[in-house]
Amino acid sequence: MKIKTADFVISNSDVAKCPKELLPEYAFIGRSNVGKSSLINTLTEKKRLAKTSGRPGKTQLINHFKINGNWFLVDLPGYGYARVSKKDKKTFQKYITDYFEQRQQLVCSFVLVDIRHEPQKIDMEFMQWMGESGIPFCIIFTKADKLKPKAIETHVKAYEQKMLADIWEEMPQYFITSSSNRTGREGVLNFIDNINLDYFDQQKKQL
Ligand code: GTP
Ligand code: MG
Repeated sequence: MKIKTADFVISNSDVAKCPKELLPEYAFIGRSNVGKSSLINTLTEKKRLAKTSGRPGKTQLINHFKINGNWFLVDLPGYGYARVSKKDKKTFQKYITDYFEQRQQLVCSFVLVDIRHEPQKIDMEFMQWMGESGIPFCIIFTKADKLKPKAIETHVKAYEQKMLADIWEEMPQYFITSSSNRTGREGVLNFIDNINLDYFDQQKKQL
């Protein structure tokens, strides 16, 4: 898929104030600093569309970016950020949970995990919650430029084994990406393109 336009639309902490249009959207979630905002910039080829930082906790709101005029990418705050106060953490959690539970336009979410690390409890718990809540998601492994191909393979296998040993019957669909060298960009965009086609087909049938 070609990205012709990518524009910031709105930031907020209230799902009720998100754009009203019935366009398909894709949310990026995962631990702080995993590379959510960077990946949005890589997908759209706009270096400064989503704000990034080497320090965790950069993204603090629900951010909608409109792509090609007919779908949205959504950048969310990271979870597991130790430096926010307990009260702030609760507020964060509330509006992120509300977003996932209430947003009808959300067709698929991407849970980002750093490919260098062993499976983390917080990610496992989050994905379990997504599964139990019936919220469709894929896994995106980030920062693949930091590992050699063999190590990538080993880490992904270990991840898969952990998921199967936990509660999953099969490994969710996953992508291996790097925002530094654009690995995986086409794969993620093609995946989105296919879902969009289905979405618009269904919409037409309902008219
Ligand atoms: P929060 O908004 O704090 O939740 O973080 P985030 O998940 O949006 O992470 P962000 O995109 O801001 O990136 C965090 C850091 O990781 C930055 O220093 C990025 O340059 C770096 N980074 C992101 N993606 C990659 C990648 O694919 N490869 C490498 N080497 N670094 C990356
Ligand atoms: Mg961010």
